[in-house]
Formats: sequence, C-alpha cells, structure tokens
Amino acid sequence: MGLVIAVDGPAASGKGTIARALARHFGLPHLDTGALYRAVALAAQREEVPADDGTALGRLASRLDLSLLEDPALRTAETAERASRISAHPEVRQALLAFQRGFAGQPGGAVLDGRDIGTVIAPDAAVKLFVTATPEIRARRRWLELGAPDGEAGLAAVEADIRARDARDRDRASAPLRMADDAILLDTTDLDKDAAVRRAIACVVDRLGPAS
Ligand code: C5P
Repeated sequence: MGLVIAVDGPAASGKGTIARALARHFGLPHLDTGALYRAVALAAQREEVPADDGTALGRLASRLDLSLLEDPALRTAETAERASRISAHPEVRQALLAFQRGFAGQPGGAVLDGRDIGTVIAPDAAVKLFVTATPEIRARRRWLELGAPDGEAGLAAVEADIRARDARDRDRASAPLRMADDAILLDTTDLDKDAAVRRAIACVVDRLGPAS
C-alpha cells in the first residue's frame, strides 16, 4: 500500500494549504473532502432539496455531479454554511464514503484533508495530522482571504461564522470533528504559511522514520 496522509482540522486552520503542499512534496494525489460536502450543498440548493431531508440529501450525494467541484460558488461563505448543515446527515456521509475510501486506497497512496479522515475514512493512514489554530487567528486569515470586507464588523461576522461551524462539526453525532488518538497536533496559530508547511513535512518524515 502507498503512503496515505490524513489531514484533519477545523475551518480555516490551514489544513488545505498543508495538504496540497504535502501532496506536491511527496508526489501524491490530493483530495479536498470538504469540496464534496460543499458540492452536495450546492446541488441541494439548486435542486431545492431541504437541508433537513437526510434521505433526499443522501440520494443527491450518491449521484453527485463531480463537475460541481469546479464551480466558483463552491467557495462562498454561504455554501460553507450549508455544507456544515447537510454534512451532519449520516445518509450524506455514507453516500460519500466509498468515493473517499477509494481515493485513499489507490495503489500509490494519497493525501486527504477534511474532518474525519484519520478517524473514519482512513483510520489506517500512515501519518495523521490534526491542524488547528485559535478561532481568532482562523477568522482573521479567512477575513483577509475574502479581501478584508467591512472592517472590524466584517471580521467579527467571519469569526461568528467560524465558531458556529466549529460547534456544528464537533457536536454532530455522525463522524464529528475529533483528533484521532494517533494523530500529530500541528498548531499553526504562530506560524506563517511556509513555516506551517515546513513543520508538516517534518512531522511526516519524522513519523515515517529514517527509511523514508
Ligand atoms: O473543509 P471545508 O470548510 O471546505 O468543509 C465544509 C464543511 O464540510 C465543513 O464545515 C464540514 O461540516 C463538512 N465536512 C465534513 N467532513 C469532511 C470535510 C468537510 O463534515 N471530511
């Protein structure tokens, strides 16, 4: 089996940047699993499937149109919010499970980032990172990414969104956001992007041992 790296963590922790950089560094394919939940959220919005209808959402997820992964609307705050609501339904998680496990199980290995990669999708991953940072720092990063809209009030709104999403992801019954027992904690609060990536690469090399 190839090298599987699981990267989990809360919203705007830097896990996506880290996962992409690890994939490049180790020459592995990368899957952003949050994009799958965002795509289901977008499809549900367009097909007017209510956010509380787990059965219908599960059906939608099982015939997901993968071209939605390229849709610019995937990245909006509204889609993120919808994704965090629909992702609580076990029917949705179940429908996306086989695709993610298949990706993780490809012969050469893979890097996946999300909320439940190390705990549910790839519990046997060789390396698991749990990337985190304080909610204040995560909110500031996301707000700057958005072009720093509406000054301090805008920043406060982004922080409220992030805290609400964290709470939903942590408190749901089905595959909640949780650090796997064998994961390495990577706190990026005081690290810039390059330093966080360097630290993540060092964690992987360290975990794999000198033969890597
Ligand atoms: O990572 P991203 O912010 O794009 O994820 C959007 C939402 O999708 C998250 O807030 C979370 O509710 C859900 N998600 C999930 N499990 C994953 C990845 C994302 O529940 N593995």
